Amino acid sequence: MEIIDGKKVASELKLELKKQVAEMIENDIPAPHLAAILVGDDPASHTYVNSKEKDCREVGFISSLYKHPEKITERELFEIIDYINNDEEIDGLIVQLPLPKHISESKVIQRINPAKDVDGFHPLNVGKMLKGLPTYLPATPYGIMQLIERYDIDTEGKNCVVLGRSDIVGTPMSILLSRKTNPGNCTVTLCHSRTKDLKKIAAEADILIAAIGSPGFVTADMVKKDAVVIDVGIHRVPAPEKASGFKLVGDVQFAEVAKKCSYITPVPGGVGPMTRAGLLQNTFIAAKKEIYS
Ligand code: GUN
Repeated sequence: MEIIDGKKVASELKLELKKQVAEMIENDIPAPHLAAILVGDDPASHTYVNSKEKDCREVGFISSLYKHPEKITERELFEIIDYINNDEEIDGLIVQLPLPKHISESKVIQRINPAKDVDGFHPLNVGKMLKGLPTYLPATPYGIMQLIERYDIDTEGKNCVVLGRSDIVGTPMSILLSRKTNPGNCTVTLCHSRTKDLKKIAAEADILIAAIGSPGFVTADMVKKDAVVIDVGIHRVPAPEKASGFKLVGDVQFAEVAKKCSYITPVPGGVGPMTRAGLLQNTFIAAKKEIYS
């Protein structure tokens, strides 16, 4: 069994970006600029946005944070998005999700200029992904595809089971792995809350992607021997033995599943750092105007 070291791969990708940014600056080209909009005071969203700002600093990107109270109206939020859409100095824009209930996430995503949609959530970019056209891939699927590539994992003709059909992870993962590409060419089954016999289906996977959002959901009996297991979950659970009082776990029961599979991503240090690197890569692509000129 080999542990897929997302932290290491992400560090290498970030180092590469840092070098390229230094070159841009030497040539009087401005560093890539990522803007983030954060609404309300959801602690997890604050943590994510702070990490994204730290990542930007690490590779030499410029970052701007637009923080707004929970009570901001949809119209006011649109005005801020329009302002950033029209600011030529900003290359990428993300609106941290979830948003308060009175704001339509779908409308907000559609308001973002697709050329700046470095989350890859805009329907135009989702459509491009579906058609195999160059676009911004959502950061987590982008990161997972790069891990599969870096570890030279054979996907051709394999049975892939994706647990969870979210717009951000499960659905795009199922599309990317079923496409006629390498990595890709998998036979994909997308499981969700209404799936019958989910355990049995999971146990037939050569590649199992767990993005179900439930701590320790995947047990050893749900995993085929020598399967590749990618754990997208990240949950804080109480751990009295730790000084902090908590620990991070994924959707997979790591200790028991690791004994059975060929490759596994740990939590933390697997998919998470790759998601963060994916956003930086998309912002870099946006700054270079590689997709929308
Ligand atoms: N909330 C959880 N994941 C994400 C993400 O990838 N992008 C944004 N904008 N919000 C999120």
